[in-house]
Amino acid sequence: MDVHADPMNLLRQRSSVKWRIFPEDVLPLFVAETDFPLAPPIQDALMAAIRNSDTGYTPPTSELPEAFARFADARWGWTVDPAQVWTTTDVGVAIVETLRRVTKPGDGVIINPPVYFPFFDLVAESGACVVEVPLSGGIDAGWSLDLAGIEEAFKAGARAYLLCNPHNPVGRAHSAEELRAVAELAAKYGATVVSDEIHGPLTYPDSQFTPFLSVSDAAREVGVCVTAASKAWNLAGLKCALMVTAGKPKEAIVGSMPDEVYWRTSLLGLKASVAGYRDGGEWLDGIIASLDANRRLFATLLDSQLPEVKYRMPQATYLAWLDFTALGWGEDPAAHILEHARVALSNGPPFGDPGRGFARLNLACAPDTLTEAVARLSSFRR
Ligand SMILES: Cc1ncc(COP(=O)(O)O)c(C=O)c1O
Repeated sequence: MDVHADPMNLLRQRSSVKWRIFPEDVLPLFVAETDFPLAPPIQDALMAAIRNSDTGYTPPTSELPEAFARFADARWGWTVDPAQVWTTTDVGVAIVETLRRVTKPGDGVIINPPVYFPFFDLVAESGACVVEVPLSGGIDAGWSLDLAGIEEAFKAGARAYLLCNPHNPVGRAHSAEELRAVAELAAKYGATVVSDEIHGPLTYPDSQFTPFLSVSDAAREVGVCVTAASKAWNLAGLKCALMVTAGKPKEAIVGSMPDEVYWRTSLLGLKASVAGYRDGGEWLDGIIASLDANRRLFATLLDSQLPEVKYRMPQATYLAWLDFTALGWGEDPAAHILEHARVALSNGPPFGDPGRGFARLNLACAPDTLTEAVARLSSFRR
């Protein structure tokens, strides 16, 4: 199924943050929203709810755990017990509420910069402290998890690890071997791994997404998966996320959160998520095919017009993590680019120290938009 981004005149009518923060002369390629239309099964589910004035509270049991379990099995061969799936408002809330229950105030929580920058604030919101273990490698060699650094951090007392799998912004799908090693380390030091898998469904056909809870018994003991349908099907405004466990200790923790945590799930978000997981697979494949073409087109455009910018094609998701250091555009190239080229990228430094000289670009747009963005950047360079 072909899925194409909406035309610019329609996109400009959207009222989400991507389309409202900057004036119209700016091409917005920053926040992780896509320019694709909603999948038809999701549109139908939402329209039916609106027609029936079905906009009340979300009931304590729903079809979502079963729909997610079927999707996880079909896509990744991961067996999920629907009785160990709970819903809440969004992945941010799922992270904070989980960390609150597995750490004490002031405990360390490992994160791997450069990383989705709200992780810094979410750890602080939970009362814990960030312990940075940067990714190993880099844009030339490719990134990996620094297992020795992670062990050091656990040894020094970190009680939890907030893993980004696949990793935003570098787009890496961590390997099963690495994840197995992480689980062993967490088990050895009695720590919890909170695996944020929101980008998992957007993994490219030449790569493999591995759900953390699928890798070993140790992972099932130490891990909590937090995820949502909201990146794959662009539902961030609808507010629904999932928390998944696969072992008794974590089941007890996540399953006994205050009822309010689950009650904050939006009914419309839940309906859209069920429709996505249950009936949105073909549409998702169409989106992945479009993104696959875009990530390759972007490489070609950079090669021909901006060869100084380093880009490593993502294995998953629609984010391009770009190294601008050779151009000398300073620590925060996105600031210069916005001012001079009128393209809005995500600023690199908030992703952590390794983000200096970098910026993140959102590839989930029309090929013409990407072409225009690179043309603007290269004309600014001259
Ligand atoms: C890794 C990661 N986690 C969480 C989120 C946000 O999820 P939510 O809107 O459900 O809090 C994003 C959004 O881009 C993300 O990239």
